[in-house]
Amino acid sequence: MTISQKPSAPLVVVVGATGTQGGSVIKALIESDKPYRLRDLTRDTSKPAARKLVDQGIEMVGVTIGTDNAEKVHQAFEGANIAFVSAYTGEIDDGILMINAAKAAKIDLLIWSGLMSVTEASGGKYTHVDHFDGKALVTAHGRQSGVPFIDVQAGAYASNYNSAQAPRKRGDSSYELAFPCSPETLLPVIDMVSDYGLFVREAIESPAFGGGSEIFACSELLSVADMSKQLSEITGKKVAFHQISDDEYVATLPEMLPEPIKIEFLETMKYLNEFGCPCLLFEPCLCRLLITMCNS
Ligand SMILES: NC(=O)c1ccc[n+]([C@@H]2O[C@H](COP(=O)([O-])OP(=O)(O)OC[C@H]3O[C@@H](n4cnc5c(N)ncnc54)[C@H](OP(=O)(O)O)[C@@H]3O)[C@@H](O)[C@H]2O)c1
Repeated sequence: MTISQKPSAPLVVVVGATGTQGGSVIKALIESDKPYRLRDLTRDTSKPAARKLVDQGIEMVGVTIGTDNAEKVHQAFEGANIAFVSAYTGEIDDGILMINAAKAAKIDLLIWSGLMSVTEASGGKYTHVDHFDGKALVTAHGRQSGVPFIDVQAGAYASNYNSAQAPRKRGDSSYELAFPCSPETLLPVIDMVSDYGLFVREAIESPAFGGGSEIFACSELLSVADMSKQLSEITGKKVAFHQISDDEYVATLPEMLPEPIKIEFLETMKYLNEFGCPCLLFEPCLCRLLITMCNS
């Protein structure tokens, strides 16, 4: 546990430490044997998750990221050596604002949680995956900003498969994992809370990386058929995979999801089915083995 208060330790600004991605980054940096000063930006410094970070020795700065609050956002990056910016929404303008603030603060390294453009990767076939395409625009801005910039892309959260995309119960007490793709379709899965931060820490600490690098953070490439088998083994319940139609898939998604998000989910699955997962498994010298579905 090395949160330093010494001015000689690099100051890392983390955006979103009260959330999943930023929280994982904070955890990994605290566990590093290198000393860091840590600052989190949050909209509400009084919320329990923020108080918990303060108790650990993390500086909390209350600021709402937004183009109508640009001056405060710039101030929040002042003095930083490194910044990790999680993509908390699909807000392109906020991402660009944070890159500009990091540049004005003359930071040495900016790590951004981006995603690829599905429109581009599919040759214009799937054009509704806005939360990927928007992040790719921010990545492009970061790359040409002149700030040393590393894109650490997150795979699919393993937690998706016990929430919005969990197997559904069938009448006979068995379960089905149902997607509009073939059983061999590979998903890049990661236990975000425990493992994403390890990749960001590697990006900061390993000389193998530097400005211009791209890292794909996932623990395993798992076919949907194997995922259903593993879910069976883990839960002791029968979980079978079924390939379903587009309409059937959209109908399985939680009703509360807005229609455009349902279409994003659908096009993401169809993209992976047709074009394959674009990432290679990254084999860095992470400090421990990653958590996979079957060893979790
Ligand atoms: N689910 C997946 O499989 C998957 C895969 C890859 C990428 N992603 C991407 O992951 C992103 C979500 O990240 P996450 O899981 O870490 O989200 P999260 O757990 O909801 O955390 C969001 C964080 O952002 C902060 N935040 C939000 N709006 C803010 C604002 N205006 N100003 C300052 N801070 C703000 C929140 O802090 P406070 O509440 O304390 O202000 C919170 O710490 C999405 O963009 C999604 O596209 C998801």
